[in-house]
Amino acid sequence: MSGQTKDILKVAMPKGRIYKVASKLFREAGLPIPSDFDDTRKLIIELPEVGMEFIMAKPVDVPTYVEYGVADIGIVGKDVLMEENKDVYELLDLGIAKCRMSVIGLPDWKPTMNPRVATKYPSVASAYFRELGQQVEVIKLNGSIELAPMIGLADRIVDMVETGQTLRENGLVEMESIFGITSRLIANRVSYRMKNDVIQGLCDRLQATLAKRE
Ligand code: PRP
Repeated sequence: MSGQTKDILKVAMPKGRIYKVASKLFREAGLPIPSDFDDTRKLIIELPEVGMEFIMAKPVDVPTYVEYGVADIGIVGKDVLMEENKDVYELLDLGIAKCRMSVIGLPDWKPTMNPRVATKYPSVASAYFRELGQQVEVIKLNGSIELAPMIGLADRIVDMVETGQTLRENGLVEMESIFGITSRLIANRVSYRMKNDVIQGLCDRLQATLAKRE
């Protein structure tokens, strides 16, 4: 690693819906992210004028990049953080990309002998039903989770609800909300010590921006 890259703060940014609100927050905090970055297919975006480099990651992989230190910090939803359970510091609740983790089913759902729950979050779902003392078979899917109860793969799902539109359009109902979700700023443990000034400085700027929003 060259002396110069050592000083660059590497930020794992989730591609997709969180990127939009996160880049807006960063801009409000005075970090000049050019708007043409919003639609780029580039995976590494250099921002030399602010000493940063964005690593454009699949959201679920952000904690992995940060845990291994290839990114110093990252932005990630609490849903992914709970599911992945990586060894990272959770520095700040950014309050963006608000949604919730819920148990969802068909309106006429009734308890069955061998309940099956489909989800992108097997660890979160298993822990939830274990705590309730309910035995369920958890089936891992990677997307379009709402299909599972509609076509008889599972009788319920555990998934994220944001606007509720997906549920409404597919005739499903939210049965129980498990926890609220917002995006968090996370840091690699070693980076947090080695680059404390710059990471803490960014945290303070973001916190001040969030306070102004309120
Ligand atoms: C997520 C989630 C729900 C939907 C909730 O899916 O899994 O399906 O968004 O949002 P809503 O309440 O605003 O409708 P995503 O769009 O990430 O796609 P996926 O089905 O491929 O996981």
